[in-house]
Amino acid sequence: MLFRQLFDPVSSTYTYLLAERQGGEALIIDPVLDRVEQYLQLVRELDLKLVLAIDTHIHADHVTGIGKLHTAVDCAMAMGEQSRAECVSLRFGEGEILKADGLRLKALYTPGHTDDSYSFAMDDRLFTGDTLLIRGTGRTDFQNGDAGAQYDSLFNKLLVLPENTLVFPAHDYEGRTCSSIGEEKRHNPRLQVESRQAYIDQMDALDLDPPRMIDVAVPANRSCGLAVAGQPAESFG
Ligand SMILES: [Fe+2]
Repeated sequence: MLFRQLFDPVSSTYTYLLAERQGGEALIIDPVLDRVEQYLQLVRELDLKLVLAIDTHIHADHVTGIGKLHTAVDCAMAMGEQSRAECVSLRFGEGEILKADGLRLKALYTPGHTDDSYSFAMDDRLFTGDTLLIRGTGRTDFQNGDAGAQYDSLFNKLLVLPENTLVFPAHDYEGRTCSSIGEEKRHNPRLQVESRQAYIDQMDALDLDPPRMIDVAVPANRSCGLAVAGQPAESFG
């Protein structure tokens, strides 16, 4: 398998490029608009055909690159069926399988950070979006976030997977690139709670500033990063 973890230092976003083999079909998870040229160059260098660009949820901290990738190489633009992004060309639901050649990505609906958040399971690894971060969890105080739903997503869907499952999140702010389910169960401070209510209380007690880009990024991402109020998205990048 071909697996590339790419990083946007402005928003501390991880983007994942996956393919079964060089010369074959590829998919990309959580591309950032400003880095689309870099992704396209890598796709060309590896002789890949990018068929699918996926957002785990509508991001509030960066503008998505799925629209620009679609324009460049005609890949499908995919988000979950709960997403308010009307631009997407492919919607998936709980348990659905997304494919690129022999790659099989299983969509897991994991609301809480937002009501359109998904994680993706593939073989030995899990792409957790902003649901499960390394030693953290995604905030639940905007975009229809719900700490109780996030507890259910974490404890009933993700943490029940085998402990050696690798965890690849959508962000890290301290340079950590990968973890595992077992490692997070034991060492993630947000997960050391006695009950669902204790988790909700913990999240309610966080006093966070709004994401820097939320007023620009959320409307832009509803159009797959292609436009905001008639302006090209590049103006905001
Ligand atoms: Fe997010």
